Amino acid sequence: MHEKLKTISSIDEIHSLIKVLKKEGKTIGFVPTMGYLHEGHLSLVRESKKNNDLTFVSIFVNPKQFAPAEDLSTYPRDLDKDIKLLSELETDYLFYPDTKDFYPNDFQTYVSVNEITKILEGEFRPTHFRGVTTVVAMLFNCVSPNNAYFGQKDAQQAAVIKQIVRDLKFDIKINICPIVRENDGLAMSSRNVFLNDKERLDALVLSRSLKLAEEIINEGEKETEKILNEMKKLINSVESSQLDYVSIVEAERFKITDKIENDKSYYILIACKIGKTRLIDNKLISF
Ligand code: PAF
Repeated sequence: MHEKLKTISSIDEIHSLIKVLKKEGKTIGFVPTMGYLHEGHLSLVRESKKNNDLTFVSIFVNPKQFAPAEDLSTYPRDLDKDIKLLSELETDYLFYPDTKDFYPNDFQTYVSVNEITKILEGEFRPTHFRGVTTVVAMLFNCVSPNNAYFGQKDAQQAAVIKQIVRDLKFDIKINICPIVRENDGLAMSSRNVFLNDKERLDALVLSRSLKLAEEIINEGEKETEKILNEMKKLINSVESSQLDYVSIVEAERFKITDKIENDKSYYILIACKIGKTRLIDNKLISF
């Protein structure tokens, strides 16, 4: 029988536990989250459980990745439900650090990535990735996983995390798992809860515009400007939408491109507000 989910908050405790588990030769899979878990997170937990002896999930709403005007105070939280979902999946450990322990008053060390953090999400949320890379490095140092699992929905975040792993020589394999969608195509996100009924329907324009882009590419269009213009027209036809960006980047280097070439993979990416809720989505296309 599987033992109950164990919750650890203390940093000393997780360090000691990880030493013991490593001595026993256990492989560790890790799913970092900010909680309010949905099927997207749970798919990462399932993937980790398939490939590791033990699975750790962290829940930490990281203040350093929210700008002052963003939604830190209203970010959805439901720890009891999260614990229930993780227990049902027979997750081994929940790491639930305390903000005061993670960021004591004299905290002054940051991890930042220079280039791929400047574009797209980085342009609209200039301090966001520094917060993400700092907390992910801290979480990696606490959990010391063999494998870490991230969702493709945050494709730029995944590219930035791969960069810190390469640059800082973390001995961790980064696994990117496919986007999980609702039946009608909306990418799962903790922020979907903020959408009212009308906005929930309007939000389908994100996945529809990605599908449209893919169709145009399949018809042979190579110039990204033309593809993006068609996406913009569709998105702007929805009154509640306010587009931040649509873009196409080379998947390998996460570099914005103006021409699609054969034999390469690309992400088509979109960030758009529906009413007051900012949503992101993307599609990976390969030739
Ligand atoms: O993707 C998220 O939920 C967060 O950005 C992460 C990776 C848990 C860091 O806070």
